[in-house]
Amino acid sequence: MSHANDNDNININRRRILINTTTAMGAVGVIGVCTPLVRSCAPSEKAKAASSPITQDISTLEAGKMMVVEWQSKPIYIIRRTDDMLKKLAVSNPRLRDANSNESNQPDYAKNAHRSRDPNLLVMVGVCTHLGCAPGFRPEANSSGLGTDWAGGFLCPCHGSRYDLAGRVFDGSPAPLNMEIPKYTLIGNILTIGEDV
Ligand code: FES
Repeated sequence: MSHANDNDNININRRRILINTTTAMGAVGVIGVCTPLVRSCAPSEKAKAASSPITQDISTLEAGKMMVVEWQSKPIYIIRRTDDMLKKLAVSNPRLRDANSNESNQPDYAKNAHRSRDPNLLVMVGVCTHLGCAPGFRPEANSSGLGTDWAGGFLCPCHGSRYDLAGRVFDGSPAPLNMEIPKYTLIGNILTIGEDV
């Protein structure tokens, strides 16, 4: 009887040792797997630089013109809109898919009729929301081939999506959304893209 108890105790102790050893090995295994993962998940210097904010002096940008800079490998369109261009925004409203930018991606300070902090300055990701082409800037009213009611805007060369001078997409275009507005800060003529304060 006491012999059987001794055997039982030995078996229980062996099981405990096995469980402890397995748990310890499992822990070592997890550390072994996690360490390289942590290393590979850390952003490279190149990736960090690509996502960092950029600063651009826009003092040379003339009224009615556009300049393009690159940020996060995307073209950023910067347009100094004239007062006349701003007046045309309201004219386009009835023909736009989302005139109030309820569906599109923009910071709160750009969710307004002109989609910008300063009404005269548009800062926008120049990427068509259909399949990612770069729409061309077509500011001229009645631009040839765009109809007599064209008040200026952007035309995508890939499948013909049309946007107004605030990057809002016209009904009937294949693009589903207005173009994206990135976060930005404007102090005088110094524009910082990718950061807002
Ligand atoms: S990518 Fe612009 S319309 Fe298709």
